[in-house]
Amino acid sequence: MADDGHPRGRLAGRLIGLGVTGSIAAYKAVDLVRRLQDQGADVVVLLTPSAARFVGPLTFAAISRHPVEGDVLALLPDGRIGHIVIADSVDALVVAPATAHWLGAMANGLSGDSVTAACLATTAPVVVAPAMDGDMYAHPATQANVRRLRDDFGYALVEPESGPLASGQQGIGRLAESGRIVDAVVAALAGRPIREPRSERRPPTVAPVRDPDLAGRRIVITGGGTREPIDTVRFIGNRSSGKMAVALAEAALDRGAAVTLVAANTTVSLPDGATIRQVETTGQLRAAVLEALTGPGDEAGPDALIMAAAVADFTPTRPSAGKLTRGERVILELSPTPDILAEAARIARGLDAAGEPTRQALRPVPVLVGFAAEAGSLDRAPGKLVRKQVDLIVGNDITAPGSGFGTDTNRVVIFDASGGQEALPLLAKREVADRILDRVARLLGERDATDVDGDAATRQTVGPTHEGQP
Ligand code: PMT
Repeated sequence: MADDGHPRGRLAGRLIGLGVTGSIAAYKAVDLVRRLQDQGADVVVLLTPSAARFVGPLTFAAISRHPVEGDVLALLPDGRIGHIVIADSVDALVVAPATAHWLGAMANGLSGDSVTAACLATTAPVVVAPAMDGDMYAHPATQANVRRLRDDFGYALVEPESGPLASGQQGIGRLAESGRIVDAVVAALAGRPIREPRSERRPPTVAPVRDPDLAGRRIVITGGGTREPIDTVRFIGNRSSGKMAVALAEAALDRGAAVTLVAANTTVSLPDGATIRQVETTGQLRAAVLEALTGPGDEAGPDALIMAAAVADFTPTRPSAGKLTRGERVILELSPTPDILAEAARIARGLDAAGEPTRQALRPVPVLVGFAAEAGSLDRAPGKLVRKQVDLIVGNDITAPGSGFGTDTNRVVIFDASGGQEALPLLAKREVADRILDRVARLLGERDATDVDGDAATRQTVGPTHEGQP
């Protein structure tokens, strides 16, 4: 990596797929990932099931920063087919080590594993480095398969080296040194342009491990969807699963924050390390948020409030005390719910409902983040930032594929109070969470730098207000 942060080297900007098959030499593929990265390549690893018995996928995921493609039948979180995404986006595929079995499968076009499947599906150059026992490599069947790959398929073969083998014998069968394989990849790519520079068309990335930059911070996160009772058994609800909020909570915990998660009817498991407040209705969510914001007694309030919950905008005006019976015609009257985020923003700044400064502001003022669930266009999202007086609004189009309710991924635009916007590609919700927390951490740093009294011990709190009571 050069000083300017851009990769340098003979493979700069390239995406290389590394297929690892079930040889004892699979451990050498870990070094090969590093050597390819040293040349500036981004590397994504494919494993056959037997290779995964030699070296675990976690090792390759951790050093490649991509999920490992180990199951030919598995889909990526965003629904794409992993080995096809790899086949269509890599500059080159390298199979190292390639076993005798794999050579035979490939020579016959048998795509039972993700490595053969990607090789069959790609138009990129393929480099193959066999490794096996010497007699196996010398067998006419293996040699015929090698010839077929080289002469009929046009694959570049990196011949194995001579030396001591895992069997205890001497012979030709040792996996070629990483440097020779890298040279073969460079040669195979000579003169070819970078095939797929668009990151959203490439395989997804695994979130890098972040520094504990939120250590000592207290963060309140809301998630899930509120339910407004129609009668004792029925309610008006929404499709929020809580995945976005849980991703935020887990990311904040991993970065050292103390997290309170206000969870409304979530359908996913909640992180152990967080303080959980289970709520059902918008009224209960409001009460939990205001309590968390102002803190019981003289305890300081949070450093940030992130409202990912899908909050009902309307609630039945007069919910029935019993169970409504069929047969009668029911006209449901709905009343607007209080805007909890806007109310939290007013409390944080010491303003009343009319925007007049009538009470003590929270000190320091917490960073406030809202989400905007929009259908089709995010045009309305910046208006929500202004109306609710928050620092950031995270807009997501809930009708876009892979985005919004119940998905493992999200495509968001982060709008800030100075009019800036940051459009992120489709990412795992965990990565979206970390990107949002990057912004929160930055805002907290700026707040601390400007707030001469920003020491937690000097914070003052106010009691909950009753404005907008549902
Ligand atoms: O839980 P998942 O399945 O992972 O789905 C995630 C999500 C789609 C729910 C999430 O990404 C999201 O968009 N959450 C916000 C949903 C929403 O209520 O959006 P809104 O545009 O209606 O509201 C704007 C903001 O005001 C939100 O931060 C909301 O929490 C808040 N709000 C809304 C109404 C209300 N009465 N009080 C509020 O505080």
